[in-house]
Amino acid sequence: MDGNGRWAQQRGLPRTDGHAAGEEALVDTAYGALAAGIETITVYAFSTENWRRPVDEVRYLMGFNESLLKRRRDELHAEGVRITFSGRRDWRVPRRVLKNMEEAEELTKRNKVMTLNMAFNYGGRAEIVDAVRQLVDDGVRADKIDERAIRARLYHPEIPDPDVVIRTSGEYRISNYLLWEIAYSELVFTDVLWPDFRREHLYAAVEEYQQRNRRYGGLEQ
Ligand code: IPE
Ligand code: MG
Repeated sequence: MDGNGRWAQQRGLPRTDGHAAGEEALVDTAYGALAAGIETITVYAFSTENWRRPVDEVRYLMGFNESLLKRRRDELHAEGVRITFSGRRDWRVPRRVLKNMEEAEELTKRNKVMTLNMAFNYGGRAEIVDAVRQLVDDGVRADKIDERAIRARLYHPEIPDPDVVIRTSGEYRISNYLLWEIAYSELVFTDVLWPDFRREHLYAAVEEYQQRNRRYGGLEQ
């Protein structure tokens, strides 16, 4: 969900107004995904690198994510959406925010219509590091470590690898997103800044995906 700061800057507004405007984009995209029968969407809400931002912006983003969750979780629950989080639940995340995350997970854990996974305090390398730590904690012998063993220790092993990754705001980077999971994902780049993103842009990305020819390293079928 990139481009909030630039969206605000273009309007002479503080960066935080861009984050606030991103809420509508997230809600429309999530409901658009739901309407299209998409089973899972994962959104990059806060990265392990975002702590480097000015303290005021970090504080804003923590409070904003918390309030968004509180305001939206009941309606998402009513729609049968399961809310999950991928990321480190470490000391840097305020306890109140963690509590809210756990409540949303608990409330929605039996929902089956769609999973909305929020990558929060998430880093792709951190996720792999955490999986390796888990392997060691589990006492797995070196010759028993394979891709399955690592996969099983990612934050959400039950969530399938994404078919499509959409990067907004005209950036052409992965930025530490779902590194393990996107090995064979189709990448779609768009210049749209996140606050302007709507379900139509999601559908356009799905159409672009449908034109792609996925070979997974094999030959054309
Ligand atoms: C993405 O928008 C939101 C978060 C990282 C939380 P940015 O804040 O990165 O917006 P730009 O890239 O500065 O425009
Ligand atoms: Mg950015």
